[in-house]
Amino acid sequence: MTSKKSVLFVCLGNICRSPTGEGVMQHLVEEQGIDSQISIDSAGTIGYHTGHGADERMKAAAAKRGYDLQSRSRKITPRDLKSFDLIIAMDRENLQDIQHVHDSPTSTIKLLSDFLGDDWPSDVPDPYYGGPEGFEYVLDMIEAACPAILEELTQP
Ligand code: 4NP
Repeated sequence: MTSKKSVLFVCLGNICRSPTGEGVMQHLVEEQGIDSQISIDSAGTIGYHTGHGADERMKAAAAKRGYDLQSRSRKITPRDLKSFDLIIAMDRENLQDIQHVHDSPTSTIKLLSDFLGDDWPSDVPDPYYGGPEGFEYVLDMIEAACPAILEELTQP
């Protein structure tokens, strides 16, 4: 019996990119029948959208690929950097901001693009002020990275 593993996806507002990370990973673990072994959550580095559901444009794009984004926005806390096994930042600014939340984190903190090949960019581009293609690209990048993230999480 292995202990439950946990992963936290983090972006700026916690209404576009990190809810998508949470939704895509949730779908993946359910597909593999291991949802009882993995705990998945998301948070933002700012609290501006606290309590809000995911952005409607992001939800619609995700729904077309079969993902149901149910998260409510919350701001990351110092406790998160002690309680989650793995924290995934969507871009390098998020990564820096996360590293300032706690001075002795026990979580492993990585960029989503650490799980992708060099043909992908370092940052998941923020889709908030752009057009529909930005939301599709967020999904493309997160779908490509999630299997490798899950593999790291489930390594003995
Ligand atoms: P997210 O996108 O970080 O992917 O959730 C954003 C959401 C809201 C804002 C910026 C980015 N905002 O400035 O309110």
